[in-house]
Amino acid sequence: MNDRFLRACRREPVDRPPLWIMRQAGRYLPEYRALRERVDFLTLCRTPELAVEASLQPVRRFALDAAIVFSDILLPLEAMGCRLAFDPGPRLATPVRTREQIEALETRPLAGVIPHVGEAVKLLRRELEDKLPVIGFCGAPFTLACYLVQGGSGDGFGEVLKLRYRDPFALRALLDKLSELAAESLMLQINAGAHAVQIFDSWAGLLGPEDFQSLALPPVRRVVQRARAAGVPVIYFAPAAGHLLEDAATSGADVLGVCWRTPLDAARRRTGGRVALQGNLGPHALFGSREQVRERARAVLDAAGDAPGHIMNLGHGILPDTPVASVEALVETVAEREKKTRTSGEPLRESEARTA
Ligand code: CP3
Repeated sequence: MNDRFLRACRREPVDRPPLWIMRQAGRYLPEYRALRERVDFLTLCRTPELAVEASLQPVRRFALDAAIVFSDILLPLEAMGCRLAFDPGPRLATPVRTREQIEALETRPLAGVIPHVGEAVKLLRRELEDKLPVIGFCGAPFTLACYLVQGGSGDGFGEVLKLRYRDPFALRALLDKLSELAAESLMLQINAGAHAVQIFDSWAGLLGPEDFQSLALPPVRRVVQRARAAGVPVIYFAPAAGHLLEDAATSGADVLGVCWRTPLDAARRRTGGRVALQGNLGPHALFGSREQVRERARAVLDAAGDAPGHIMNLGHGILPDTPVASVEALVETVAEREKKTRTSGEPLRESEARTA
């Protein structure tokens, strides 16, 4: 098993920083677009063989150090009785905005609602022959609430922020339910064989520190605890949340995802080396020349420094129109960091790691 990624999650020495790319399975790949010409997005998610094909596409093409399960953070919401569509952005049949609606949310066992996700994890592990780790994921409770209360994407998710004042108890009740759902979703993937999990809190940055600490973070902590108790490393990623960095570092997660707005050396200082860091090349940097991509990627690796516990990644999901050649340039730049003190496949000895 290529275990660079898992070792870096645990802040153990590695021969070079591991690399994976948020949203690596998706539209920037021509082979993904070809897959999508045959089936719609939800069918793709719900057909394990096709979902596994989408997960494998990026790791076939590039020397990435982890594969990610193909699904979406919003699919588990159907266990609450919410009907979901993508056209192409997500749309929920009925927004959930009142205390009555929140109380009426169903709690169907997730295994019956997204059985394909567990099957996809098992099949993906088999296809990878345990050569690469598999990352499972979920949406964080607050981010799921953003979509559920809004009824889809858009408009700065004002509805959830209004609910926070109109009926804070109802919002808290909703976040509690969503933390159960998110934890159940991670456990389903872990039990099926996921080696690590990431919690996406895409919209936590909308909150100020007080609301983040009192509303959004406690349910995240519960999700993290459940996954960590199962023995897998947990990554918590909240973009545009530099103002919440110190608080986010107390989520209990092993790794904190950092977006491009916060330099990694600053993030390292502010988190005191207590967590591993993941990121943070800006996705837009991949629209520069090959040389620019390499230069920006080197700058990120330099800012991350030599201490163990850095996972190279973008600072947000890769954009759909990203040139594939830029991803190649990124992969090459990370590969150059491989320390030549070992023959490949042989584990790095502690003494070498310290002097390397
Ligand atoms: O490589 C991977 O990461 C694939 C698995 C994955 C998807 N979505 C597939 C997907 C993951 C980890 C996600 C996470 C996700 N989904 C997030 C968190 C990360 C982030 O970007 O902030 C969020 C907020 C969603 C919700 C969502 N799903 C939106 C807003 C959209 C439409 C716009 C967009 O970003 O594409 C989706 C659809 C979606 N999810 C696609 C994919 C590949 C595109 C669907 C298509 O093929 O048309």
